[in-house]
Amino acid sequence: MAIRTVGVVGCGLMGSGIAQVAAEAGHDVVVCEVSKDVLEKGLARVESFLQKKVKKGKLAPEAVGETMGRIRGTTRLGDLVGCDLVIEAVVERLEVKKAVLAELDAICPAQTLFASNTSSLSITEMAAATKRPGRFVGLHFFNPVPLMKLVEVVRSPLSEPAALEEAVEFARGLGKTPVSASDRTGFIVNRLLVPYLLDAVRTLEQGVGGTADIDEAMKLGCGYPMGPFTLLDFIGLDTTVYIADIMFDEFRESRYAAPPLLRRMVQAGLLGRKSGRGFYDYSQEPPAPTAGLA
Ligand code: CAA
Repeated sequence: MAIRTVGVVGCGLMGSGIAQVAAEAGHDVVVCEVSKDVLEKGLARVESFLQKKVKKGKLAPEAVGETMGRIRGTTRLGDLVGCDLVIEAVVERLEVKKAVLAELDAICPAQTLFASNTSSLSITEMAAATKRPGRFVGLHFFNPVPLMKLVEVVRSPLSEPAALEEAVEFARGLGKTPVSASDRTGFIVNRLLVPYLLDAVRTLEQGVGGTADIDEAMKLGCGYPMGPFTLLDFIGLDTTVYIADIMFDEFRESRYAAPPLLRRMVQAGLLGRKSGRGFYDYSQEPPAPTAGLA
């Protein structure tokens, strides 16, 4: 089935990014948020991202209006009824996702493809809770969605090959590179990335190097675009602990155990960029390593 109209549930950082790339690829998009405020902020984020592309000469000025014209914002899930594909990108809480999916499952035709952008919850559990487990897949985008080329296409034991193929084709049509992964918590990227980030915190805790030294070492020694602490501050320390806990719960391996320093920072409200301070203090330019952590 060719995917023309795309429904996105959630217009936060991920949902708005997904809505943007789908609209840029020519899809009609309906994006749904419970909060009008979050919806408006999300749509404004898309517009400002597109304007930045115009400034950089990467996008024709008229394309902004055209792309925005393909995105319809709504606060009613019922408006997603005519979509060929529905991607949920709501908060990472299973009960919230299940409630949204149950409502959509009741109104969308049986052929509508359902996808979750979860990075840490079970695709199988969500799929099994719907009446269309064969047409339910994971479509895991990366932050920032418009810039990151990868999409993990996640299969549960119940996913039908045709549904997976449609998801792969959809991701390709967005200009992304899909990789296929089976439904194990963390899929491919977070399974490898999360232990690395937690190890960087342990390296700091153990006094092997300072924040800036460890970041510089991994940037210049491995050619990574940014060091682990800069990335942790982008992802959010609370989000990282949340994902690590789910992974620890699944695998019971110490490499997924969040180190005490990370937990203390979350308790202290040092969440990264979103709170203004994490491993770095963003109240100054350039941001300086936060003192007194280790
Ligand atoms: N999250 C949010 N924004 C990010 C970001 C991230 N991880 N990385 C970069 N950005 C922002 C920058 O702040 C910058 O914003 P402004 O234009 O407003 O200043 C913009 O993206 C461009 O960044 P760069 O200057 O670095 O530009 P670039 O074109 O050279 O590179 C990039 C862009 C490819 C995104 C590069 O910065 C990069 O690779 N960043 C790391 C991305 C990453 O590792 N993401 C996390 C993956 S894990 C995840 O998303 C899954 C999960 O489940 C937790």
